[in-house]
Amino acid sequence: MCGIVGYIGTKKAVPVLIKGLLSLEYRGYDSAGICVLNNDILNVVKSKGRVKNLESNPELPNLTGSIGIAHTRWATHGIPSNENSHPHLDNSKEFAVVHNGIIENYTELRKMLEKEGYTFISQTDTEVIPNLISYYYKTEKDILKAVSLAIKDLKGSYAIEVISPLLPDSIIVARKDSPLVIGVGKGENYVASDIPAVLNYTTKFYFLEDNEIAKIDKDKISFYNNSLQPIQKEIKDIEWDAASSEKGVFADYMLKEIFEQPQVVMETIGSRLKPNEKCYFEDIDIDLKDINKIFVVACGTAMHAGLATKYTFEHFCKIPVEVDMASEFRYRNPLIDEHTLCIFISQSGETADTIAALKLAKNAGSKTLAVVNVIGSSITRIADYTIYTHAGPEIAVASTKAYTCQVVLLNILAIYFAESLGYSSKELENFKTEILELPSKMKIILDDTKLIEDFAKEVYTQPDLYFIGRNTDYAVSMEGSLKLKEISYIHSEAYAAGELKHGPIALIEDGVTVIGVATNPNLVEKTMSNLEEVITRGANVMVITNQDIPNMKINCNIRIPKCSSMLSPVLSVIPLQLFAYYIAKDKNLDVDKPRNLAKSVTVE
Ligand code: G6P
Repeated sequence: MCGIVGYIGTKKAVPVLIKGLLSLEYRGYDSAGICVLNNDILNVVKSKGRVKNLESNPELPNLTGSIGIAHTRWATHGIPSNENSHPHLDNSKEFAVVHNGIIENYTELRKMLEKEGYTFISQTDTEVIPNLISYYYKTEKDILKAVSLAIKDLKGSYAIEVISPLLPDSIIVARKDSPLVIGVGKGENYVASDIPAVLNYTTKFYFLEDNEIAKIDKDKISFYNNSLQPIQKEIKDIEWDAASSEKGVFADYMLKEIFEQPQVVMETIGSRLKPNEKCYFEDIDIDLKDINKIFVVACGTAMHAGLATKYTFEHFCKIPVEVDMASEFRYRNPLIDEHTLCIFISQSGETADTIAALKLAKNAGSKTLAVVNVIGSSITRIADYTIYTHAGPEIAVASTKAYTCQVVLLNILAIYFAESLGYSSKELENFKTEILELPSKMKIILDDTKLIEDFAKEVYTQPDLYFIGRNTDYAVSMEGSLKLKEISYIHSEAYAAGELKHGPIALIEDGVTVIGVATNPNLVEKTMSNLEEVITRGANVMVITNQDIPNMKINCNIRIPKCSSMLSPVLSVIPLQLFAYYIAKDKNLDVDKPRNLAKSVTVE
């Protein structure tokens, strides 16, 4: 994973790089490092742990130049340590490199370079890159050429930034399968793994494609293909504003993002949906009559958004839907062809497994449609069609607002498909109105969080928790359970309520907490009897419901506004997000940066 940032201009590079790294910490926080080029010398400072350790490193003020590259690391090859931190230098200390990605053939390259007399001080895969550049530079005497030859040798994924006193007015960057954007300023330019890292300085961006190289000077950017032929690229103006990637009055990004949900859901609905009008998606011209199966493929929370919406597609479009994890889908020879529509969901648009699954679907001739949050990200450039959620930058590692936006957008897409197939009904019209009412209903839930906060205080010391529900309530239970694991480190499981009796109920004893989600009028009685069964065995129960429920010994009853059960995940997930959040806070944990996790998983 890892995050990289670069600056070239007239300002001091260090403050810009530190600010960028702080915003990229969601990608990894095992160590951080900076290299600044000044008076023909590459000066490097590294610190183990979080970026704040680097920020307070007493050596940092010595880096005074205006050209620099920086890195925050999520360790893959080699433990988090100073030696393994980036930037890495070649043996002659003429090339400094930061890298996000994994070089799969680094052992082979290292052996080859060792034969040539090169030595290595780290256990990383990255250290081969500066040495490989140095190796080619010896014969080519041209840095751009040396970089292009070096990256031709690399197998795997990379976004790299290279600086050198031999080319003192430029940063060279290249990418393959790892994200990299170039922010354009006046007399200065920026490089980063994502847009928010430099959004404070510019809203104008170039998106580097796979196998492209750029030479970035302070007032000029030149692009090349991998044979070093010059290419033209289009600049894009990004609508996100810098404030949307700041914490503001909130204690954590996660809390801020939970509270932003009514607004971003409203923006995601945008003008796509209006009462008594047909739904509208520009540019999607799939012949749905020709589609006999939909696959929804994604990872983590995005996959849960697929599970929560499969019911809508099946109900309104009458097309069977299968939801799969990208990591499974890509290795199981799925039965797909030109009559299959594969929908890929991703907040970042950079998840390695999702990208691989998408490429596989394309090769099989399926139609591919991506639901993505980050504009211009890799997935959007591969899929046949892309539709965007408008969640804005999501910084907290645990995804919240991206999920609700994905669920809403997929529901709208299902309506659009149904209408394109010629279906219309009163139910479909009411469903549209209900979608438009979601933001105000979400706000009602967020206006009073006390009960959830109190219940979290009651149970935060427990070692295990269980979530149950049926239909979309089961899908949302899975997401609630994932949120809890991610940020509170409490073991939890989600079960389809009807499955309890087939095993999990053996785990229920006095004092065990069970969270029931019951929003489906046709299934509420059944879920409530399942809850009765756990109460009988001593469970401590929280229910999230918008239905009339029988009088039972429930410890915490969270009422949410009524809505179609196909849309209820958008509402019922909010108490579950808050529950996980308050528990993590009660345990004094870092909710925005949970241990071992990264937001954008660009490795397998
Ligand atoms: C990581 C993140 C999750 C996210 C998943 C998929 O595991 O920690 O929050 O749901 O990746 O990410 P994507 O960007 O593809 O939605």
